[in-house]
Amino acid sequence: MPQPFPDAAHHHGDDGLRGRTVVLIGGGSGIGLRVAHRAAAAGARVVLGGRTPERLAAAAEQVGEAATWRTVDVTDRDSLAGFFAELDRVDHLFTTAASYRVGPMLKLSDEDAESPFASKFWGQYHAVRLAAPKMAADGSVVLMSGAAGARPPAPAPAYAACNAAIEGLGRGLALELAPVRVNVVSPGTVDGDLWARRPVEARDAAFEQYRRDTVLHRLGTEDEIAHAVLFLFANGFTTGSTLYPDGGYTLR
Ligand SMILES: NC(=O)c1ccc[n+]([C@@H]2O[C@H](COP(=O)([O-])OP(=O)(O)OC[C@H]3O[C@@H](n4cnc5c(N)ncnc54)[C@H](OP(=O)(O)O)[C@@H]3O)[C@@H](O)[C@H]2O)c1
Repeated sequence: MPQPFPDAAHHHGDDGLRGRTVVLIGGGSGIGLRVAHRAAAAGARVVLGGRTPERLAAAAEQVGEAATWRTVDVTDRDSLAGFFAELDRVDHLFTTAASYRVGPMLKLSDEDAESPFASKFWGQYHAVRLAAPKMAADGSVVLMSGAAGARPPAPAPAYAACNAAIEGLGRGLALELAPVRVNVVSPGTVDGDLWARRPVEARDAAFEQYRRDTVLHRLGTEDEIAHAVLFLFANGFTTGSTLYPDGGYTLR
């Protein structure tokens, strides 16, 4: 019997995630936790990683029985190796875990200036390296970048360069790891857990500037970024791409 669409058999309405293992380092809060909710709702098992057991346990309880968790520090190679040694398979990987300082070159200490690369760039690089041998051929990696890489809102050159480097890393890894797909998500400013922990004056100023400068004149939500990540997990023909859920921030 003819199918209404040639690929209708693939449209299960679960984004192909049913029974798959989705690893979310940083998934104890913020965008990673929203991805956990969406992936679990689509029938995936989710493994949450982060440094704080209480945060991870609370997040896993919220997500429900699809979720397990394990502590890991992405800046510590042995800790990352131990995390992946415990997993038998990885179908999709997304790492929001990062802890860094941003600011002008002439003001930051060398250690702070290097922190975005130490944590966000090399953390993701080594996570992918350790996950790669366990990845399903039809699986994918989504790397976390940030709109400041394309359009810095304030002087923070090492942080801007780090995000741009992550987009380059995505293109390089897409070639090396094929058929595993590798994509990058580069969100604009999101009203969520990350900014909620920052000082209120800095947050208000950044939010006001973002509302003014972005085409849609508002902040993003964690769930809007998670939706973009689920798309990149699911779309079998997208690799080496960077998606910008940023309300048009990089346009103007
Ligand atoms: N939110 C935004 O507006 C926005 C915009 C653009 C890009 N981003 C990028 O998104 C990422 C942050 O995600 P988010 O916004 O969802 O923030 P978040 O809620 O702060 O999530 C980060 C998670 O990573 C964990 N983590 C931090 N450092 C870690 C480390 N060294 N090892 C393991 N886990 C670590 C944190 O938990 P523990 O502290 O308990 O370990 C936390 O659960 C960053 O790369 C940021 O640059 C965010």
